[in-house]
Parts: sequence; structure tokens; C-alpha cells
Amino acid sequence: MSKSRESTAPAAANDRPRRNFLVEFGALAAGAVGALVSLGAGLAVLLDPLIRKQQVPGKYRQASGGGQEGFVRVATLDAVPDDGVPRRFPVLADQLDAWNFAPNQPIGAVFLRREAGSSEVQVLHSTCPHAGCAVTFKAADAEQPQGFYHCPCHNSAFALSGEKLDRPGKENPSPRPLDALEVDTQRLQDTGEVWIKFLDFYTGRPDMKPKI
Ligand code: FES
Repeated sequence: MSKSRESTAPAAANDRPRRNFLVEFGALAAGAVGALVSLGAGLAVLLDPLIRKQQVPGKYRQASGGGQEGFVRVATLDAVPDDGVPRRFPVLADQLDAWNFAPNQPIGAVFLRREAGSSEVQVLHSTCPHAGCAVTFKAADAEQPQGFYHCPCHNSAFALSGEKLDRPGKENPSPRPLDALEVDTQRLQDTGEVWIKFLDFYTGRPDMKPKI
């Protein structure tokens, strides 16, 4: 009897650390599973817009539907007087990323111009191709009776067509004419609205390389 008590007591003592280890391991495993579940749920919420691709709200989708892809509406034809004088218009566009939709955000500006009796609209980017300052339109003077575009930063000047102007005694550092933008002519004809393909281009180079 005393012999068997002597043999079981050390065995029980040896089992205790193993039991403690199993209990601790179980608790750790349960904690890890819980943490993984929480992490998974958090990631699902975070990535949900990316997975299902956020949609433009319906009323804005309809407002920009139809016409050519990538064009934005800048004005009605009636808002561009046919007097040959360029008018500056802001370009607004809906901005959408994975989490947010912001309608009608300013993304740039253009000059619109049309000749007397014409329904064609000329569109020029208002950014100077030299270094990116904003170009203004200057009223007629002795040298340019029809007026001209001028950049106040380093004196670049451009004719109404957008071509570079060499004004006497004034260097023109622009490497290219003002950037002309495409109009959706079909839509202009059908709806009387001016929709343009608005792009920004790299400055300081002779070619029009679009920024993507
Ligand atoms: S940025 Fe227009 S002339 Fe330099």
C-alpha cells in the first residue's frame, strides 16, 4: 500500500506541468483564433469598397451618361457668345475613389471661343505649357488687335488660335502652343452642350504628353 502511494505521487507531480501547458496552449490558441476572426472582419469592412467597386450614385450616373467616354460638360453653347472673344470656364468633374464620391470638383479651367454665326467651339487649356502658370486673356492692343493669351509668369504670349506669339522685345519661353482639347461634336450638335475631353499635359516639353 505505502509502496503504491510512493509510486503514484511523483507521477501526479509530473502531470501537473503538462496539464498547465495544455491549458495555457489552449487559451493561447483560442485567443489567436479570436484575433484572426476580428482581423478578418476588420479587413472585410476595410476592403469592401475595393472588392465590390464603389458605384457613382444613380443621379450623377444619369447626369453624366451617354456621349463619349471620358468627356466632361463645361458649358452650354449659349453660354459661349459668338463674338470671337475667349471666355474662361472652370472644369468640374465627379471624383470617385474606393471610399468616397465627391460630385462637381474643380479640376482645371479652359478657354472656350466661337466665331460669329458658328456653332463650333474652340477649346484651349488655360495652363501655360512653359511651367504651368494660369494663362489670361488680354484685350486688344496695338500689336494684337484681336487680343491674345498671356502668361504673367515669364511673359509667354499666344494668338487666339493658341499658336505662340513673338511679340517685339519679349522673349516667349513656351516650348509649344496652348494645348487644344477635343470637343464631343456630336453631342454639341444634338444637345447644345459643350463636352470636352479634359486632360492635363506635362509642361516644359515641345509635345503634348498627357498626365495619366
Ligand atoms: S509659366 Fe508661363 S511663361 Fe513660364
